[in-house]
Amino acid sequence: MKVAVLAGDGIGPEIIAEALKVIDVLRAEGLHIETEAAAVGGAGVDLTGDPLPEATLKLCRESDAILFGAIGGPQYDVLPREQRPERGLLRLRKELDLFANLRPAKVFPQLAAASTLRADVVAGLDMLIIRELTGDIYFGEPRGIRIEANGERVGFNTMIYSESEIRRVAHVGFQSAQRRNHRLCSVDKMNVLEATQLWRDVVIEVSKEYPDVELSHLLVDNAAMQLVRNPRQFDVILTGNIFGDILSDEASMLTGSIGMLPSASLNAGSQGLYEPIHGSAPDIAGKGLANPLAQILSLAMMFRYSLNRADLADRIEKAVEDTLEAGYRTGDIAMPGEKKIGTVEMGDAVVRALKQGHA
Ligand code: IPM
Ligand code: MG
Repeated sequence: MKVAVLAGDGIGPEIIAEALKVIDVLRAEGLHIETEAAAVGGAGVDLTGDPLPEATLKLCRESDAILFGAIGGPQYDVLPREQRPERGLLRLRKELDLFANLRPAKVFPQLAAASTLRADVVAGLDMLIIRELTGDIYFGEPRGIRIEANGERVGFNTMIYSESEIRRVAHVGFQSAQRRNHRLCSVDKMNVLEATQLWRDVVIEVSKEYPDVELSHLLVDNAAMQLVRNPRQFDVILTGNIFGDILSDEASMLTGSIGMLPSASLNAGSQGLYEPIHGSAPDIAGKGLANPLAQILSLAMMFRYSLNRADLADRIEKAVEDTLEAGYRTGDIAMPGEKKIGTVEMGDAVVRALKQGHA
């Protein structure tokens, strides 16, 4: 097993270090896993001027999986768009064709009270957002900012989906629903946008192959509302790139903290990129305050989806749950009055739980 480790910027290196401690425990138990670090995002820009350096892309191509931290920081926002950290991540997704982005939103019972929503609304929530990741307005051409003859500036992007792009991610959606509670809700904006009318049409076509999955549809504005009104109605949500970006941030807050949500981005093979859905949090970077659990849970997803070791994924997830059960809380998930610990202590607690769970 070969894993590329791309820590990136901000809190990325701090939380990646905690995930690596988990790998060390498994390695000490005899697991053969090779890890190699490379620069990406702002760190890539600082090193080579490119947010996705050639050597990094090469390493990723040669790896079974990529463990990704976070990218971005205010110091890079002044750079030309092509050199911004976000471009590094977007290009990596595109280059490796990581079109299926799995973003589970699960409320750990220990954290139900940490949500800004009432515990009785979110307790027991366990849903999966599947976001198409390599198409849509994120990559559509033409795009740009042009200057009209009268001197006015006009910004434009293109929302575009081909039928094959929709079909392949729809299959991932239906197959995921088959492994869960057999319900798939497809989210679009077909009342206004043609690109998403096609989305709905193709999803309906694909659904014929999955008669055991109950398909429903929601317009994205309604979906945003339903997510806070009654989130437990959902099993799997399937949606496009931009809607999925927005809805997955919303869903993360149901779970108490965006610091808890892992994600997997998969291509048609078993190769995947695993990253927390949160960003680089420049405001707390370097302070040892960040919650490493989304990163550690992303590592668990890596074992499940790319490395064919669901047993290790289960163990890591159990260790995280045991750690929460034991009362360990970083600032983002602590209730008023609860003791807060830092990034390293949280990582240490998970490592201890992992070892204990195995003993
Ligand atoms: C995400 C992020 C990225 C996205 C940014 C960093 C480019 O928000 O993974 O959700 O918009 O896809
Ligand atoms: Mg996002």
